[in-house]
Amino acid sequence: MRPTGDVQEHQTATTGLFLRDDFPILQRMVHGVPLVYLDNAATTQKPTVVIEAEAAYYRTSNANVHRAIHTLGEEATRQYEQARATVASFIGSPAPEQCVFVRNATEALNLVAWAWGMDHLSSGDEILLTVMEHHSNLVPWQMVAKRTGARLRFLPLAPDGTLRLDALDTFLSERTKIVAFTHVSNVLGTITPVAEICRRAQRLGAITVVDAAQSVPHQPVDVTALGCDFLAFSAHKMYGPMGIGVLWGRLERLQEMEPLFGGGEMILRVGLESSTWNEVPYKFEAGTPNVAGAIGLAAAIDYLRGIGMEAIAGYESQLTEYALLRLRSVPGIEVYGPESPRGSLVAFNVPGVHPHDLSQFLDQQGIAIRAGHHCAQPLLKHLCVVATARASFAPYNTRADVDALVDALGRVGDFFGHVGS
Ligand code: ALA
Repeated sequence: MRPTGDVQEHQTATTGLFLRDDFPILQRMVHGVPLVYLDNAATTQKPTVVIEAEAAYYRTSNANVHRAIHTLGEEATRQYEQARATVASFIGSPAPEQCVFVRNATEALNLVAWAWGMDHLSSGDEILLTVMEHHSNLVPWQMVAKRTGARLRFLPLAPDGTLRLDALDTFLSERTKIVAFTHVSNVLGTITPVAEICRRAQRLGAITVVDAAQSVPHQPVDVTALGCDFLAFSAHKMYGPMGIGVLWGRLERLQEMEPLFGGGEMILRVGLESSTWNEVPYKFEAGTPNVAGAIGLAAAIDYLRGIGMEAIAGYESQLTEYALLRLRSVPGIEVYGPESPRGSLVAFNVPGVHPHDLSQFLDQQGIAIRAGHHCAQPLLKHLCVVATARASFAPYNTRADVDALVDALGRVGDFFGHVGS
């Protein structure tokens, strides 16, 4: 890990803010050339400290948690709960028990939609979303709205891809029970003013749910400062393992929620006909949890903290600005989303080349981007496109990675010209 503070800007622009050597996969070749990994919004690569933390748990302390009265069981439980405390302090949670371990942000959002939504929504109530939601913050609400008779409404976007906050008061009313929205769009990079939306929604008694999958890895996030009721994120987008994520909630909200899954661990007493529930967060963690994943997530957080979230946000913001500048030099390119501020990703289209073909072409040169609808089909319809290409950045990316992408884009016309002739 690189020491912070005295890092020279020109040096990090060349070498990255994270040391590439910390990430074994970044040493590999793809199609005979060094990998340029620009698909970080889909998932990030894992540093050795994360890989080792998971392996060390299995090598030395593997046991089931909260059950066994033996040394390994106690060690596993201690490490699992220590991981929860690490998550809590990372996002400014007043207490560790407000952090529920789930599989990913999708499961976290489903948990709120089903466990809170089914008990608090009825016909005529409204759920306010935005048109730029990822399917994971749209489809669960569609499902719950169908069962409860609640109505979905959508906050529109301005032409530059920012949210139409001026329209918020027209959409908010006493009928609004839930306002669920992304912190950072995974397509446009739009950053939403979470604290303001939460304040305005809560004045009318609505609860607020923030999809923070694309913000927690890239900028400081403090749930207390944001003032939301729920916040969801995944470990695998923040250099941690796949299969572990977090639902953070206000204590009173979590306490008033019924569990979604029944089974071991989530109960207090079980009779043949009925049962009572364990306390928060355990009533939401039925069955054996992903202990190694939680420990890996805590290692990822320690790694991020070693660099500093402010430093990460600053570095990525400069790199994204550079990418926007360079991408705009590609003839005919269409770039989506606001100029600034924006998350560290850029979605774009090159005229005459389908993003899937483009992605395959770039892959041949060792460059990994994402192409498709990015699990945001309504947003792409709003943009009048069926797919886009997307480059998304992490602190191990450098200006040289951006240059490699833009240089390859400069050759794409020739390549597809030959293919078509
Ligand atoms: N949600 C991830 C993305 O946008 C998978 O790529």
